[in-house]
Amino acid sequence: MSAPSTIPAMPQPRIETRLCQLLGIQHPIVLAGMPGVAGPELTAAVSNAGGLGMLAVHAGTPDELRALIRRTRELTDRPFGVFLTLPDSRPYGLPRPGQRARLPADELVDCLEFAESFMEQHGLDHQDESGPPGVIPLCTPAFLDAHLQVVIEEQVPVFAAGLGTPLPDLKVLHDHGILVIAPAGTVRDAVQLATAGVDVVVAQGHEAGGPNAPVGTLPLVPQVVDALGPGLPVLAGGGIGDGRGVAAALMLGAQGAWIGTAFLAAREARLPDFQRRALIGAGDDSTVVTRSITGQPLRTLRSRWTDTWERTELEPLAAPYQARISGPVLAAALSSGRADVHPGTAGPAAGFIRCIRPTENILADLVSGARAALDRPFDVGVHPTPLVQQLRRIPS
Ligand SMILES: Cc1cc2nc3c(=O)[nH]c(=O)nc-3n(C[C@H](O)[C@H](O)[C@H](O)COP(=O)(O)O)c2cc1C
Repeated sequence: MSAPSTIPAMPQPRIETRLCQLLGIQHPIVLAGMPGVAGPELTAAVSNAGGLGMLAVHAGTPDELRALIRRTRELTDRPFGVFLTLPDSRPYGLPRPGQRARLPADELVDCLEFAESFMEQHGLDHQDESGPPGVIPLCTPAFLDAHLQVVIEEQVPVFAAGLGTPLPDLKVLHDHGILVIAPAGTVRDAVQLATAGVDVVVAQGHEAGGPNAPVGTLPLVPQVVDALGPGLPVLAGGGIGDGRGVAAALMLGAQGAWIGTAFLAAREARLPDFQRRALIGAGDDSTVVTRSITGQPLRTLRSRWTDTWERTELEPLAAPYQARISGPVLAAALSSGRADVHPGTAGPAAGFIRCIRPTENILADLVSGARAALDRPFDVGVHPTPLVQQLRRIPS
C-alpha cells in the first residue's frame, strides 16, 4: 500500500469559554488596545488566527479611521474591534473634568528647560510639525463623537476604550448591536463599568504595558471576577506573555486574556526596527512606571529619558501638559532611531520576546501553551533545561 501523499494536519488545541461565543471568536484571546502599533495588518492577523483583533487609534480624522476599518475588512472577514483613547483620560489622582489641572508657570519653565538641555546633551534635533508624532495627542469630546459615529456607521462589532477613560453613552452603541469592552484597574472601577452597562470588563493589572493601574494582575483578576459575578465576562490583562499566563488567567476566573506586549513581537505590528531590537533585548526588569512621558503613570521600557527624569527633583506636569514636554524629545528619538531615548511602550512580558514572528504563530503558541499548562500535572516544569541548570554547568 502506498504511503499517503500528505500528512494530516494536527488538530489545533482548543480552549473555549463563553466569551468566545459572545465575541464570535475561536480562542479567548483579545489584542489589547495599542494605538500606533495595532493597525489593520495586526488587527486582521489576530482575528484571522482565531482571536479578536483590535484596531487602535489615538489621532487622525474620522475619514482616516473609516479607511483603516475598511482596510481591516479587506484583510479579514472575522470579527474585530476598534479601540479609542477617549478624552479626559485621567486615571489616578489627577484632575477630573471640571477641576483645573495645576500648572504653575515656574514648573512649566523648569520642565521645558530640562527637556531642552536633555536634547542638547543627547544630540537630538527638534522635528518640524510634520514629523512623526511622539506622544498621544489631546483628544476632545468632538474627536470621540466623530470617531464613534464612524464605528457605528461601519458596523464594527466591538468597541473598546482605554484605561481610566470616561465612557460614551453605551445605549447608543448597544442600540447598534456593538459590544463594549473597557478596562478597570481596581475593583471599584470594575463595578462602576459594570453598572454603566459594559459587556466585558478587562481587569488590568500593574504589570500591563501602557497606562498604569495600582493593583497586580494576580490579586486583581479574582477580586474583579468575584465582584462582578458569573454574568459578566472578565478578561485578564497585564503581564500575560505566554500560554501559562493565559492558563493562569482562566484559573483566576477570567474568560480570556487581553494581551498587548506579547503581540509587539508580531511581524504585522507597526513598530520601527530599532524598537523591535530593543524589545528583543529587553528582560523582565527592563520596564519602569514613569510620569515623565504623559504626566500619568505609564509603564514603558526604561530609557535615558525616564532615568534622567527620575534623577531630577522635577515634578512632572499634570496630564495632558507633560506630553508637550516629552513630545519633542520622543519625536526626535523616533526619527533618528534612538532606542536609548525611546525604546517604546511595553510591560515586563517583553522578557518573553526572543524574535519577531508571524502573529498566527504567537497566537497558536499562546493557545497550545495554555492547553498544555491546564492539562499538565502541577509539579512538572516546562523547560527540559532550566536556566539555573544551564548556569550550574558553566565552569567558574
Ligand atoms: C505599545 C502599547 C501601547 C499602549 N497604548 C495604550 C493606550 O494608548 N491607551 C490605553 O488605555 N492602554 C494602552 N496600552 C495598554 C494595553 O491596552 C493593555 O492594557 C496592555 O498592553 C496589557 O498588558 P500587557 O502589555 O502586559 O499585555 C498600551 C500597551 C502597549 C504595550
